[in-house]
Amino acid sequence: MLSVKNLCTEYPNDKGEVVKAAQDVSFDVPEGKLFTLLGPSGCGKTTTLRSIAGLERPKSGEITVGGVAVYSSGKSIFIQPNKRNFGMVFQSYAIWPHMNVFQNVAFPLEVSSRKYGKQEIETRVMRVLRAVGLDQYADREATKMSGGQQQRLALARALVMEPKLLLLDEPLSNLDAKLRERMRFELKRMQRELGLTTIYVTHDQSEALALSHEIAVMSAGRIVQCGSPRDIYERPRNKFVADFVGITNFLDATIEAPEGTVDSRFRVHSSIGKLCVTSSESFRAGDAALISVRPEDVDLSVERPNGDNVAEGVVDTKVFLGEYMDYQVRVADQVMLARVHPSFNVSTGSKVYLHMNPEKCICIPEDKQYRQAA
Ligand SMILES: Nc1ncnc2c1ncn2[C@@H]1O[C@H](COP(=O)(O)OP(=O)(O)O)[C@@H](O)[C@H]1O
Ligand SMILES: [Mg+2]
Repeated sequence: MLSVKNLCTEYPNDKGEVVKAAQDVSFDVPEGKLFTLLGPSGCGKTTTLRSIAGLERPKSGEITVGGVAVYSSGKSIFIQPNKRNFGMVFQSYAIWPHMNVFQNVAFPLEVSSRKYGKQEIETRVMRVLRAVGLDQYADREATKMSGGQQQRLALARALVMEPKLLLLDEPLSNLDAKLRERMRFELKRMQRELGLTTIYVTHDQSEALALSHEIAVMSAGRIVQCGSPRDIYERPRNKFVADFVGITNFLDATIEAPEGTVDSRFRVHSSIGKLCVTSSESFRAGDAALISVRPEDVDLSVERPNGDNVAEGVVDTKVFLGEYMDYQVRVADQVMLARVHPSFNVSTGSKVYLHMNPEKCICIPEDKQYRQAA
């Protein structure tokens, strides 16, 4: 539905230098899906979104919606933002304070170049207010609404023009933590129910994992990995993604040999001993690599378990966190974080065994380790 190809957008900075805010960004979003741009502050998420909206003029690339170009450097096309018919909600969504809820949502229709009749405006506004669960507040002053309600009002206002594409830039980041989580569910429900093709921008990895059909992780203006939330979390392809999305243990390693029986399995020598690991990349014996293992994928036991991928360690510290416990276990020179069920309770200084499923030990080639800096 939306297709972004080789998008580059630059800004001049104060010193007259060029900031490459979006570099060779390409992705496709199918009809009705929610696609997220995830990354730390300054990585180019807003620039990419504003380029799609037409609020920035890119340097090069192509953006098409339903096969029709809204921007193309090759064909010299630039459709004005108000002609693109996209709905947008920003972090600092502005509610018109002198208007009530109904008027806020009706406003875009009233100023639109297409003339809407009074009855049509009424029908459309009430339909979107029902969709966001604010129909009973139509007459209320906008400023008398709670933060979450104002957020939904901003969304209703973006939806009333029935946009082809919805662009959301950190729309929940001004809400407190509890409300943010509730709005997350509401947003997801609404997006699915209305089948809205949506680009969502956030620096919050748990928000991205919870909401998205697909995530593009960005670093320094580039997409460094694109995939389903599960792909991104369970099969990070470089160090930046493994580190930015969730918590992980990193182990330095050297490849010994492919593990014969299973494709994409390798035997490595790591800083905690010999391990069997998984990777979608190819390796040769002697190659340097990095292993990423999530703390919840490190099992602990008092007795030595059977099989491979077992290491012996000593409990350094432990922290009770309610639904789970975090153990820091020293293995050789390395401290490993293990997140286990609170029923596993041993004292600090005890000897424990770590066991890691080879499928959960993700092997990243050396050249992908520092890609973020490139
Ligand atoms: N209007 C602008 N003028 C100059 N530099 C900008 C402008 N907007 C953004 N930048 C720079 O472009 C880079 C990407 O910014 P942005 O897209 O806002 O990142 P994000 O939304 O991921 O935090 C940053 O280095 C930022 O300082
Ligand atoms: Mg931003």
